[in-house]
Amino acid sequence: MSLHSFRGGTGKSNVVASLAYLKAAAGKRVAVLDTDLQSPGIHVPFGLEDERVIHTLSDFCLGLCKIEEAAYDLTAPLDLESSAGRLFLLPSSMKLDHISKLIAEGYDASELNAKIRELIDVLELDYLLIDTHPGLNRETMMTLPIADRVLLMCRPDSQDLHGAEVVFEVAKRLRVPRVELLANKVPEDRREEFEAELVERFDVDVIGVLPLSEDVSRLGSRGIFSRLFPSHPVTDELRRIASSLQAERGHD
Ligand SMILES: Nc1ncnc2c1ncn2[C@@H]1O[C@H](COP(=O)(O)OP(=O)(O)O)[C@@H](O)[C@H]1O
Ligand SMILES: [Mg+2]
Repeated sequence: MSLHSFRGGTGKSNVVASLAYLKAAAGKRVAVLDTDLQSPGIHVPFGLEDERVIHTLSDFCLGLCKIEEAAYDLTAPLDLESSAGRLFLLPSSMKLDHISKLIAEGYDASELNAKIRELIDVLELDYLLIDTHPGLNRETMMTLPIADRVLLMCRPDSQDLHGAEVVFEVAKRLRVPRVELLANKVPEDRREEFEAELVERFDVDVIGVLPLSEDVSRLGSRGIFSRLFPSHPVTDELRRIASSLQAERGHD
């Protein structure tokens, strides 16, 4: 499953981090792929320091390392050992030569898809969450078709909504099986009105509406929100969204 948005700053990385954490805490085996090659950042809320990163997702795709070497097991650092779950992060490469090689050699979606399947098998994953680069660049075009499901994040902002229309059109052409909307940063008093506007304007399911939250903003990506605020209303909504996701390997 991929989380995508037309513009940056919608809250993708923070939401992916919380959803992955909640699933792992509920006993699932989860991996997060950072395919935001141009502005990677999800390793920050996960607390994975740049210095610890030796191999990345792009090294694996280029055949330069085994998948296990690019997957950082964060189960222990996130105190998740007591659950049966595991949480892996595959950070994206900061090495420009690797990125440009991947892009220049025209990485074919079916090959990438095969690698992703290998990843799901080797790590015995229940869930694979992809944090994408916003917009519609080449990487996005490569990663959108590999997802069984795309959650498109948007704020209550006209630019996001116009962008969402474009992404829906592209996803349809790329034959992404399932695209849904996830609204974030919605002022509490606009929630119902905005949800109704989305339903009317887009012919897709709205999987959740997350509020504009001072607590999320104050945390400033210095950790995983749902780990640090387990009984916060934002975490309650994220937990509801997490429970509506289906497992990759057909059991939940
Ligand atoms: N519901 C929210 N309310 C307030 N601030 C939020 C919310 N969700 C995310 N943020 C803040 O928005 C900023 C961008 O979030 P991030 O997850 O990095 O977005 P993206 O990955 O889509 O670029 C961060 O500073 C984050 O703390
Ligand atoms: Mg991000």
